[in-house]
Amino acid sequence: MSNTVVVGAQWGDEGKAKITDLLAKNSDLIIRYQGGCNAGHTVVADNKTYKFHLIPSGILYEGKVCFIGAGTVIHPETFEREVNELIEQGIDVKNLKISPLASITMPYHIEVDGYSEDTATKGKIGTTKKGIGPTYTDKAARMGLKIEDLYSPEALSEKLDVILPLKNKTLEKVYGLQPYTKECITALCEKYAQIFKPYVCFDWQELLHSSKKGKNILFEGAQGVMLDVDYGTYPFVTSSNPIGGGACTGSGYGPTMIDEVIGVSKAYVTRVGEGPFVTELKDETGDKIRNIGHEFGTTTGRPRRTGWFDAVIAKYGVLVGGLTSMALTKIDVFDSFDEIKVCVAYKDTRDGKIYNTYPTNVYMHKYLEPVYETHKGWKTDISGIRKYEDLPENCKKYLARLEEIFEIPISIVSVGPDREQTIFKN
Ligand code: IMP
Repeated sequence: MSNTVVVGAQWGDEGKAKITDLLAKNSDLIIRYQGGCNAGHTVVADNKTYKFHLIPSGILYEGKVCFIGAGTVIHPETFEREVNELIEQGIDVKNLKISPLASITMPYHIEVDGYSEDTATKGKIGTTKKGIGPTYTDKAARMGLKIEDLYSPEALSEKLDVILPLKNKTLEKVYGLQPYTKECITALCEKYAQIFKPYVCFDWQELLHSSKKGKNILFEGAQGVMLDVDYGTYPFVTSSNPIGGGACTGSGYGPTMIDEVIGVSKAYVTRVGEGPFVTELKDETGDKIRNIGHEFGTTTGRPRRTGWFDAVIAKYGVLVGGLTSMALTKIDVFDSFDEIKVCVAYKDTRDGKIYNTYPTNVYMHKYLEPVYETHKGWKTDISGIRKYEDLPENCKKYLARLEEIFEIPISIVSVGPDREQTIFKN
């Protein structure tokens, strides 16, 4: 038995979906533990492309139980759309289950997220505008609605009597938005109850308990370590905990259940939204990486910011993410490059101070410049290679250097989007 967590080791979009898809094959239960429909995961299997936001990609395999945990936030209509799209593509969703403790993204959360982003002159986060931050804010403020509330009219009514007066005051006075009547929210909740009904897992404790016995559990993270609300580039982060530890709080399993944490890193770095990015390339090389790597957001379609591999954040990710091995994706994007750079430290342009560990105060990142080491490219198409030994020498040297920096092994190398385009190293 092996229980494995998959986390993004950078700012999200590292190709986690492909890695979770590969590991899901040998898992019995797959749990998504945080985030919401801000995530966008693409899986290419049997020449078909599947797009996921919330539903674990393990649903593509027959008979796997896919559980959306308590740490997630769910927008009902988006969930419904995603389920319907999968059904239309011939995917069986009967093993899809949702925790009754997951939080609901309400229409006012999306309105507030959009308003905050659209009107921000300073401090814009560049969110996905899916209402993620406001939903988690209400959860922490004990003003949120949980899926289980939808099936208890008494609890819902009592909660709305507490929540709505305050919510409406804030919507009107702070944001200049329209208030909601209790009747309107109650009617919406009746609709949501119908949407979720086939999937709510009221016996989730039995599910988790029975899965403790000799089953393989895969914990699927969304976003990445650098977007973690506690350890990321705060405030330019999402509002949940994508780090390995988030798997426990978001799933209902304790830390003793976890055997392995696999970090997923691209061979370069991308980020969407605002916030510091020391190795960002705003030049032709950055454009080249974006174009070859198809770096445009799955959820928002935004062009992703691109840059060289940043070993400072990688080492930080290994530490706070609790990583035991790394999966390196999109390495084939460098097939035509003469040289590949890796940032091994940051230099403060004000006083020349060198940072080998990640400086967490992001307000000073504008003064930092990357210290690079340069590696020779391999100038070979590696997308058809399936064995580590067959990789070009320069590629193996590059991977060996990264392993030395990470101080954990690279377990998987991905050389293309398809399931088959994968090299299992150890
Ligand atoms: P939010 O999660 O929509 O609140 O956005 C907060 C930050 O996280 C923004 O910079 C988003 O671009 C980023 N973000 C959220 N989800 C993802 C993702 O799945 N991939 C990459 N970035 C994300």
